[in-house]
Amino acid sequence: MSNKLECYQNGIRFENPFLVGSGPPSTNAKVIARSFDAGWAGSVIKTVSLDHTKVRNIAPRYGHHKVDGKCIGFTNNELITDRPLQVWLDEIKELKKQYPDKVLIASIMEEPIKENWQQLTDLVCKAGADMIELNLSCPHGMPERKMGQAMGQCPEIVGNVTGWVKEASTVPIWSKMTPNITHITEPARAALNAGADGITAINTILSVSGINMKNFQPVPNVKGVSAFGGYSYTAVKPIALRMIGELAMEFPKVEISGVGGIVDGQSAAEFLCMGSGTLQVCTGIMLDGFKMIERLNSELIDIMDIHGMKSVHELKGKSLEYFGTMAEMANRLEASKQKTKAHTDSFEGDNIVDVSKELTL
Ligand SMILES: Cc1cc2nc3c(=O)[nH]c(=O)nc-3n(C[C@H](O)[C@H](O)[C@H](O)COP(=O)(O)O)c2cc1C
Repeated sequence: MSNKLECYQNGIRFENPFLVGSGPPSTNAKVIARSFDAGWAGSVIKTVSLDHTKVRNIAPRYGHHKVDGKCIGFTNNELITDRPLQVWLDEIKELKKQYPDKVLIASIMEEPIKENWQQLTDLVCKAGADMIELNLSCPHGMPERKMGQAMGQCPEIVGNVTGWVKEASTVPIWSKMTPNITHITEPARAALNAGADGITAINTILSVSGINMKNFQPVPNVKGVSAFGGYSYTAVKPIALRMIGELAMEFPKVEISGVGGIVDGQSAAEFLCMGSGTLQVCTGIMLDGFKMIERLNSELIDIMDIHGMKSVHELKGKSLEYFGTMAEMANRLEASKQKTKAHTDSFEGDNIVDVSKELTL
């Protein structure tokens, strides 16, 4: 594979920008090894906590949002790992022995208690993790224990937790943001002020997959009860791109790991153009398999070749300069003397479809 795709973040080398995002494709050492063999540059392990016995996963826990029979969005009600921490620590050690050049990122989550976060940080560092990702963002991350998104929505807690982990960590740390917030830059700022080396965005978006009209029950449900789930895959890409753009514009020097709907070379390149340095894929792998890395790599190289780019770093932030305000857009249109087609007088009701088409690029 060409080294055009090699990239660096926080001094760490990635053979290509593609990492397995925390979730089912990083559920244990066996699947992580399979992803490394397939060509993924690194993996963010399924989120671990100190006491796995408190994690009670349910099934069924996934839902498909289909349009014309095709899955465009995916919902899940999956908690963090329910495997014992010691098993994970042994697996991290073994994986690093077998795959010294792959980047292994420990995703960690705890209740907002300093000793817990620092103990977990110390353990994953000693096991040999290359980096740590702080899960401050799972939507169903046991809010009754004030974990996951319940923390990520509160910048003060994000700052505290990030500071505790930074103090205890011997490796770079990324804080993973929830999109279920008005301004993603606020918790991100708190994380960066507390010493985060980078930001991962986004986790899943709170959602309802659908309703079964036979019994009015939401799907998926367990014995008639459901909860708002996390939405991912292609449909969330526009929201993820916007949020990454907001982060990159607000914090131009900060390393971003982009995630949310990456499925092909085009979407990967879009995340880079909006300011991401590395890219994570979770649902895409669940629906397409680990082999998709070959397509991701070759399609990304094709896009770079069209532009004569020698390094994937050249795509980073490439599109940010093209964003402005609505007023700037109106000014440019007026200056070009091009007549805007937005004549609301021409709406007659029965031509709304045609008028809408005319206003679409
Ligand atoms: C079934 C499932 C389980 C997930 N579990 C975790 C997790 O344990 N920790 C975490 O930080 N993110 C978790 N995520 C979120 C993903 O890492 C990712 O942020 C999100 O799904 C958006 O990316 P995607 O569209 O590529 O899936 C999970 C996602 C899915 C679909």
